[in-house]
Parts: sequence; structure tokens; C-alpha cells
Amino acid sequence: MGNEIVYLNGQYLPLADAKISVMDRGFLFGDGVYEVIPAYFGHLFRLEDHLERLDNSLKSIRLQNPHSHEQWRNLLAPLLKHGEDQSVYLQITRGVAPKRDHAFPQHVTATVFAMVSGITPHADPDNGVKALSMEDSRWKLCHTKAITLLANVLLRQEAIDHDCAEAILFKDGYLTEGAASNVFVVIGGVLMTPPKSPAILPGITRDVILEIARKNNIPCREQAISMDDLKKADEIWITSSTREIIPVVELDSEKIADGKPGSLWKMFYKLFQEHKKSLR
Ligand SMILES: Cc1ncc(COP(=O)(O)O)c(C=O)c1O
Repeated sequence: MGNEIVYLNGQYLPLADAKISVMDRGFLFGDGVYEVIPAYFGHLFRLEDHLERLDNSLKSIRLQNPHSHEQWRNLLAPLLKHGEDQSVYLQITRGVAPKRDHAFPQHVTATVFAMVSGITPHADPDNGVKALSMEDSRWKLCHTKAITLLANVLLRQEAIDHDCAEAILFKDGYLTEGAASNVFVVIGGVLMTPPKSPAILPGITRDVILEIARKNNIPCREQAISMDDLKKADEIWITSSTREIIPVVELDSEKIADGKPGSLWKMFYKLFQEHKKSLR
């Protein structure tokens, strides 16, 4: 730890040498946005989709993208290891201001940081994970991928404290998403996920799964899902760029169906791996 090369404000340098000012707005206010992009076999997966979401996040916090999509591609390329599966984390903050003031600083350059870490496959075809349902205590801009993640951190930690891998969140009785994932349920052979709205992050993995479903004629719907719906689900999955698709086999200490990863999950897991391989 410390020797890997990261990108900070125009320079590639060892992680241990990458330093920012304590006056950075990201440090003082959590005033910034980020992206997490998987790279399979050394190739960035759905980079354009991630960069489009980054544009939307930046727009929503009124910060200009310091780079074009082409510049991002060139900037991230030297961090990737040939042929390996990795995940790229990139973060942009409003930069270093001369004083701590909530108001946007004038004439300040954004701070740009990127680093890469290994992806280890999490899905185990024989075992899923446990999840805990919780009230969604987050703000109203969950479609913005903001670095301000304290609520998500507390929710995830509470799930971990209950020996669960993820918190599954509900707002006004309806499913939103996980603390760091989107949620899918299977009821009567139909795959469902909550529709895009400011209450959820529009997950790129979520889009891929819906595309795979449509391509394979698997019935799927984007619709509101209540706690009662979730209780009668045959399968529950969580999805994200670093975890791909993980089956939830226990919710609030109650087994989902027979408590084993479901048949549709097994099928999607295979289809997702094939989709990844097709990019090689
Ligand atoms: C709150 C939240 N929802 C959903 C996701 C899944 O998004 P993606 O599939 O783009 O990784 C994430 C990813 O970390 C997340 O943090």
C-alpha cells in the first residue's frame, strides 16, 4: 500500500505522495462527486455511460467538468494494468478555497483525483448474502453521485453490525436501493427494480441487467416495490460496478424462498460473465 500510482491534478505519482490541502472543499464540506468504473481485461466497461453520469452529477452540483470525455479516457488509461480486472475510482471536488465558507469560492481550480484497485469476484454461486432493511435516511439528491456519503456509510455499517452485507433501503414504505447498490427482485418470474428517480443512483450495472433481460426476453419491469412485495419475492439481488450481481438469500433474518441463490440469478450471473467476455 502506498506504491501504486495514482493521478492527482495532472500528475501520476505514488499514492503515498498524493497529498491535498486541508482547505480542499471535498475535505471540509464533502463538496464533490465521484465515479467508480470497472475495467475488465484492462478495458474500461461502459466508460461513456459512467462519464455521462459524471456530467449529470457535476451539473447537479454546479461544477464544470474539467475534462472532455476524450481527456478522461487518456487520463485514466495509464492507471490500468493490461489484461486485469480492476476498478477505477475518480473524484472531483470544488477545489482548495482560501477560507472555509459555504458559498462557492471564485476562481478556484477543481481537484481531480483517480486511483485504481483490484476487483475480486464476490459472487459465490452456492451462497448469497444477508441484508437488513432500513429506513432510507439520505437526502433528496441520491441520483447525484456525491462524495458526501455519511448516511450511506452509517447505513452500511449498521447492516455489517447485524452480520449483513448490505442495507436495503425504504422511503415512505417503498424500496429505493442499497447503501451502495441497486436492488432487483423476482416475483412470479418477473424481474423488477424501482424506476429511476432522484431517490436512487441510476446504476450502470442496473442498466446492463435490464438490457440483458430485454435481449433474452425475460419479463422485466421498472416499478415501485413495497416492503410487502419484497417479503413475497422469490429472489432479491443487489447490483453494483464492483460487486456485479449478488443474490440476497436472507432479509431481516428471514430466508428468501429456500435461502439459496435463485435460478434467474444463476442465469443472469452467467449472461453477465459472457457479456464481459464479449468485450475482450
Ligand atoms: C447508492 C448506490 N446505488 C447504486 C449503485 C450502483 O451503481 P453502479 O452499478 O453504477 O456501480 C452504487 C454504486 O456504488 C451506489 O453507491
